[in-house]
Amino acid sequence: MVQHFLMDLDLGEKKYWEVLKLAQSVKKNPAKYSKALAGKNVAMLFAKNSTRTRVSFEVGINQLGANAIFLSSSETQLGRGEPIKDTARVLERYVDGIVARLFAQQDLADLAEYCHIPVINALTDFYHPCQALGDLLTILEQKKSFRKVKLCFLGNGSDNVAHSLILSSALTGLNLSVACPKNAMPDDRVLAWANALGFVTVDGTPWKNPLVGRESIQITRKPKDRPNIDITADPIRGVKNADYLYTDVWVSMGEDEGKLNDRLNALKPFQLNGELYRQAKPGAKVMHCLPAHRGEEITDEVMEWNETSSAIWRQAENRLHAQKALLITLLK
Ligand code: CP
Ligand code: NVA
Repeated sequence: MVQHFLMDLDLGEKKYWEVLKLAQSVKKNPAKYSKALAGKNVAMLFAKNSTRTRVSFEVGINQLGANAIFLSSSETQLGRGEPIKDTARVLERYVDGIVARLFAQQDLADLAEYCHIPVINALTDFYHPCQALGDLLTILEQKKSFRKVKLCFLGNGSDNVAHSLILSSALTGLNLSVACPKNAMPDDRVLAWANALGFVTVDGTPWKNPLVGRESIQITRKPKDRPNIDITADPIRGVKNADYLYTDVWVSMGEDEGKLNDRLNALKPFQLNGELYRQAKPGAKVMHCLPAHRGEEITDEVMEWNETSSAIWRQAENRLHAQKALLITLLK
């Protein structure tokens, strides 16, 4: 069966860990993997702007001995209305895998449904699993394990990066707090999945699942060894005892910039600045997926901190190593 990576849970716990371990090996000894995907071709279908994801995938694919073909969706026939399912059935006849950055998660699902080759999510409006994979690699290489490590995501809890951090944390056992305004809470479907793997709370009390059916099962006590995913509208509570403080832009690509004005006041207390940082665990590190909007979700001062207090540039680097491991796992 073809293994896709459309969202964080697609790999399952065991394979997710295998990719993290392989990424450490790839980073340590890149030459060993220089022919891992020799002779393969990978299409990179992008409907949104990108610096890190595009370059780290293109370089990574080349470093594995394969060939990357970058396709800006507006320059393909997709831009003139060809359905994504038709594009999928054509591309699978030429290439061995597709890395896609699209708007709707459903478009990505359609692409994968009509392909018999692996499809990798390079960001949609709903998830950014390759980002989370590189971020978890960053934390793992610094902390050696996720036991007793707490990550705090600050800002727009309903964005793609927050969603992927919630699922990847629940999958791997990293404790996470999401500090966000009440009008920017994570999607309930994401919390339901996280609650099936970890233990989701709101300000410490068990999250009440509003969804019906199987996903509505209530967990009232933290099962042993499951990570805690705490959602809070209090930034001080969120950062308390945190080893890492993470933020992302307040308005994502494809969203209405006008939304910022509605959200701005509610989001201001969640800005990653020196004052909030001092409420976290001493020695904590800041994280950002980038690009950053200095003066909004993070201050200029914090962006310029060095490696003693920042993991931001290391995160960007680790996208390369993590994605190489992912490509080897899915395409080999
Ligand atoms: N973090 C990230 O995905 O960056 P790009 O949008 O530049 O790819
Ligand atoms: N949430 C941001 C992430 C960019 C990498 C966006 O979607 O624009």
